[in-house]
Amino acid sequence: MDRRSFIGAGIVAGGMAAGGMPRVAGAAAAPDLGFPKDFVWGCATASYQIEGAVKADGRGPTIWDTFSHTPGKTANGDTGDVACDSYHRYAEDIGLLKNLGVKAYRMSIAWSRIFPEGRGQPNQKGIDYYNRVIDGLLAAGIAPYVTMFHWDLPQALPGEWRNRDTAKAFADYAGFMAGKLSDRVHRFMTVNELRCFTDLGHMQGIHAPGLQLPAAEVNQVRHHGVLAHGLGVQAIRAHARAGTEVGIADNTSIFVPAIETPEHIAAAKKAMRDENAMFLTAIMEGAYPPEYLAAAGAAAPKVQAGDMAAIGSPLDFVALNIYTPTFVKADPSAPRGYTPLPHLPQSPRMASPWLYVGPEAAYWGVRAVSELWKPKSLFISENGTSADDVLNAAGLDDDADRIMYLRNYLGQFRRATAEGFPLHGYFLWSLMDNFEWADGYTKRFGIHYVDFATQKRTPKLSAQWYKELIRRNALV
Ligand code: NOJ
Repeated sequence: MDRRSFIGAGIVAGGMAAGGMPRVAGAAAAPDLGFPKDFVWGCATASYQIEGAVKADGRGPTIWDTFSHTPGKTANGDTGDVACDSYHRYAEDIGLLKNLGVKAYRMSIAWSRIFPEGRGQPNQKGIDYYNRVIDGLLAAGIAPYVTMFHWDLPQALPGEWRNRDTAKAFADYAGFMAGKLSDRVHRFMTVNELRCFTDLGHMQGIHAPGLQLPAAEVNQVRHHGVLAHGLGVQAIRAHARAGTEVGIADNTSIFVPAIETPEHIAAAKKAMRDENAMFLTAIMEGAYPPEYLAAAGAAAPKVQAGDMAAIGSPLDFVALNIYTPTFVKADPSAPRGYTPLPHLPQSPRMASPWLYVGPEAAYWGVRAVSELWKPKSLFISENGTSADDVLNAAGLDDDADRIMYLRNYLGQFRRATAEGFPLHGYFLWSLMDNFEWADGYTKRFGIHYVDFATQKRTPKLSAQWYKELIRRNALV
């Protein structure tokens, strides 16, 4: 089945119709497509992916500047030097958000604009920039949700994430910024996607800083990542106004039961806890599960007194970046009682090779996290897709594939809200095409098309669709 027919099937099988109840016996049921009142609709971006202006106003270099300028590391040698030039065009970008009718915008702060060397004296011009963006958002009636770290680590920090001191430097920076912004920003996320900035950068070496370290060092980097989060939570709380909410934006690996029966559902839930042992499980439980430590053996992370209490600092919310599923089946013969199922050559996927289509990840991600750890509140900090975006003769991008992808995932998020799981908002990745890390500008995730030669932004058909969905607070 190709992805278009798969997606079409998904709408009926697991998507929009799933939560719809017939209102009149015998009559054709009009499915209820609505989201809860006050559901927060938003869009997401990240500093290095959109800002450009890498040398402006005292910004210090980051590991992504270094990596993207190293030959052979990114598609076409692309860098974030200019990206969407949002550093200069932020007012226009706020206009795009306003036109969509979103209530919220998830953005990140470039640590090295604030502390060019990662620590030390703050750079007022960097603070001023984020003040301008935040004030502009508020004037447009849009609530900023701020991520403190979205991978652009100041290059000057020795040993990057291999060095435990980086976690402390992060907390100092995060606390400082919370003090500056919490009069206007009410929700902060510490770090974005632990698994990516640790493993892709230090195990696979395909992201900055491009290292391929042995298991013990990878586990130590992971530990420094969760420690940074935990110390960051404490520092934000210490410096922010009362009532400020703190959470994390994590790409927890999501396991979808191959069959919706109790044994497969239990297997998927166990897989969620086990396979995220070093990340969200450690954070939500304040401990590494003994099975994880035993399996790691001599390569287990070195943990100092007090680390796990910091890592387990209670959160106001958990935010998930949800893109792709791993299907799993119960398997009594497997050591852990489950077997993850491999994607097949013909498994449906979108324009990024890793982006397998699996709308059920939306529902099962929210459900498993809710049931395992009972967070007070959940957000989707990212969901979206790359697509084969092209402008037609009329200069328009009719990205029906992206709409189909989003509608199916949102159908499954709606299923989660209809069943009462505490999901309170959704941030579409992304507001506009941007620098897609190692894929450079070859993969477009935006609902606005960006012509990188002219910086012209053009709403795609998906922007029109999202606007209508927001207006109705219902799938459309
Ligand atoms: C998750 C990352 O947080 C974001 O930076 C990236 O662009 C999207 N996934 C799409 O790959």
